Amino acid sequence: MRGWFAAVLAVVALAGGAAGAQPARAPVEISISCGALGVELQLCTDAVHRWEKKTGNRVRIVSTPNSSTDRLALYLQMLASRTDEFDVLQIDVVWAGILADHLIDLRPYLGDAPKAHFASLIRNDTVNGRLVAMPWWTDVGVLYYRKDLLAEYGFAPPQTWQEMTRIARAIQAAERAKGHTRMWGYVFQGRAYEGLTCNALEWIDSFNGGAIVDAKGDITVDNPRAIEALSLAGSWVGTISPRGVLNYDEEAARGVFQTGDAVFMRNWPYAWALAQGQDSPVRGKVGVVPLPKGGPGGKHAGTLGGWHLAVSRYSKHPAEAASLVAFLTSAPEQKIRAVKAAYNPTIPALYGDPDVLAANPFFGALLPSLESATARPSRVAGPHYNRLSSDFWRAVHDVLTGDPAGPRVAELNSDLDRLKYRARW
Ligand code: GLC
Repeated sequence: MRGWFAAVLAVVALAGGAAGAQPARAPVEISISCGALGVELQLCTDAVHRWEKKTGNRVRIVSTPNSSTDRLALYLQMLASRTDEFDVLQIDVVWAGILADHLIDLRPYLGDAPKAHFASLIRNDTVNGRLVAMPWWTDVGVLYYRKDLLAEYGFAPPQTWQEMTRIARAIQAAERAKGHTRMWGYVFQGRAYEGLTCNALEWIDSFNGGAIVDAKGDITVDNPRAIEALSLAGSWVGTISPRGVLNYDEEAARGVFQTGDAVFMRNWPYAWALAQGQDSPVRGKVGVVPLPKGGPGGKHAGTLGGWHLAVSRYSKHPAEAASLVAFLTSAPEQKIRAVKAAYNPTIPALYGDPDVLAANPFFGALLPSLESATARPSRVAGPHYNRLSSDFWRAVHDVLTGDPAGPRVAELNSDLDRLKYRARW
């Protein structure tokens, strides 16, 4: 885990930087935890400066670990101690149920603002009638491919995982024969953490193997289609994917793809802006399509991800913290993030915005994938979601390292049955 540290940012307002903006009350200092993946920290810092200018308040930015799993551990530890260290927290879409008791109800502070967002996300953030977070950006898993290489070798983007496997194998072999010995077919997030849950859920759902647990709370993961999906993924490691993929997170996969050493990559949309960056070796050579189907009878499935903003119940300045949440999640701020860095807005109207579409030509096509994205079973598992997910990613990781999928999935099924019994969901 990266050490987390607090960086005190420039004190804009009190030094006279807030031209004309008079705060209604005495200025306060609050803190926000921001992610630091790719350009996230920079985006957060810039946006926070705009709010400081507008309100005269000050904000301390606390950077947190990149891995969703490590960040949750940090939050749980801090919140359990009822610290006022965090006022605003950036939380994963799957944590509303886990953290709800530590978060304030934002509804009284936000007026009609939630109505502009995807209703499904507002529902996601509503726990026992309390709006415990506001959507900041949404995510869906997508397939990145090397346009130039597929064209050179005469392939169209794959429709199924089986096709992806064949194309990856063929281009990897051909490129290696030409001397590009570090070339791999496919990189994804295979480390034992939340990112692997997202990847594996996509494989399984695309084979019509369900979403681990169904809406009624029944454990569904032990089925032939899920086993087929996981077995196929197991066959990638050491063939079209490096063994190192077992320790890859988003940034590790992006590093390999962006260097030019992979034909395909599974990642979130943020990787688009970086792959297209001025200094990117694959600039202009990348395409993005929905993740493949699990065979001709399967479907495209992308896991729903994304990050939301919440206010800690232990904050001494809930009104200012909620005002920062309202500002950062507003349409103009979401537009800046979308145009500059390919973060998907949570406000459907922005998908019709010409500037957003010009910066991210694939966003228009992404909208249906976002609307039909596969949700992780966080609603049904509520506070127990992290346990469910860690049981799942551990089992998947075992399959990727060589355990036969059938028996390992049966064992997972018993673990989840026990969890369900204890949790009484
Ligand atoms: C992305 C998603 C988040 C997910 C995480 C897994 O950050 O937005 O929802 O949990 O990846 O690594």
